[in-house]
Amino acid sequence: MNHYRLAPSILSADFRNLEKDITQAVQAGAQYLHIDVMDGLFVPSISLGMPVIKAIRPVSDVVFDVHLMVQDPERYIEEFARIGADIITVHAEATRHLDRAIQQIHACGKKAGVALNPATPLNALDYVLGKVEMILLMTVNPGFGGQKYIPEMTQKIKTLRERLTETGLETDIEVDGGINDSTIETVLTAGANILVAGSAVFDGKDIAANVRRYLAVMNR
Ligand code: DX5
Ligand code: ZN
Repeated sequence: MNHYRLAPSILSADFRNLEKDITQAVQAGAQYLHIDVMDGLFVPSISLGMPVIKAIRPVSDVVFDVHLMVQDPERYIEEFARIGADIITVHAEATRHLDRAIQQIHACGKKAGVALNPATPLNALDYVLGKVEMILLMTVNPGFGGQKYIPEMTQKIKTLRERLTETGLETDIEVDGGINDSTIETVLTAGANILVAGSAVFDGKDIAANVRRYLAVMNR
């Protein structure tokens, strides 16, 4: 049985009041905090890095779900582990040595995730599927918050969940991008169990109410 988890993405939080926004999301019941690290090379934008993660680590012991949109992420795995990441996700497209990157994450005692861009086929996972705790399926092109869910991703989620079930694996499927009131049911039905939500959680007036609303749908 896969557990359902909500992973609010702080990319859409108020960076002037990060502690306040994080506390509200966590106190309302969010189990993960999704942290998007962008390097301006693998994706067009640059977001945040080690100093920010270090600064917010003492705010809460919530699971830090670190999504590295970084070229050659193996350069930084040890450091992210040391400053408090609990799950480290690398993009299959960003490294020549995916298997080695996964080994590095595990050697640091952390959970490993592999992310796929929307156009990357699932067979990129063929030889690593049994080695990771989580697969992150991008449901928008990575790089920015507030984009629209790509409808073709629903079938991708379904196919991956079927493949995992056939193999007897209970690997988590995380979806990231465009998750909101109009797409949440679709991705849950397709087989995702960890939902990232940035703008849908942090853009509104009431962060706690947003978190509680999504958790209620997930636990239905
Ligand atoms: C996009 C990031 C996402 C982003 C999602 O590249 O990986 O985590 O914060 O934002 P929303 O939920 O607004 O689509
Ligand atoms: Zn992300």
